[in-house]
Amino acid sequence: MIEPSRTPAQLHREQVQRDALRIGIDEEYISTLVDTFYHRIRQHEVLGPVFSDAIGPGWAPHLAKMKNFWSSVARNTGRYSGKPVPVHQKLTQVQKHHFCVWLALFRQTLIDTAPTPQAVDYFMLRADRIARSLQMAMFDRPGTPADC
Ligand code: HEM
Repeated sequence: MIEPSRTPAQLHREQVQRDALRIGIDEEYISTLVDTFYHRIRQHEVLGPVFSDAIGPGWAPHLAKMKNFWSSVARNTGRYSGKPVPVHQKLTQVQKHHFCVWLALFRQTLIDTAPTPQAVDYFMLRADRIARSLQMAMFDRPGTPADC
């Protein structure tokens, strides 16, 4: 049987998903990561109030959105199509050093839950990069290094 031809974008997407799966990253793990991370965020002394003031009591839509976000970032699924920069720019309570706290908590959550050590590095590489660009859009002129 002749296989229907796939576009370069589809082939790339399949390759990304195979690479992620090889180090244990699938939708089930992404769901666990997001649930565990935001459970910790909500209990966090500094970040908890920042999030609850913005999100309020109904966390389900935020968790669903963040699962789609990480699915897109880690597995190239295209499930998230929002614009994080303007969303964060509206969060007037967020201070620059909060990003260091966020990244440290994200790293610890990965260390505690990730299926492989490579999965920790895989997510942190992407989280660091996105955090830097959000931080720059919110606080800095281009070229200023992140402070953590
Ligand atoms: C100081 C660190 C951070 C704080 C306090 C923060 C806070 C928040 C809050 C409160 C929301 C919900 C806004 C709303 O629905 O009104 C949100 C949304 C979001 N955050 Fe963050 N965030 C931080 C860092 C990050 C980082 C590092 C990433 C990515 C690696 C990220 C990705 C997102 C995304 C994708 C959304 C959804 C945006 C949308 O509505 O489409 N955030 N964040």
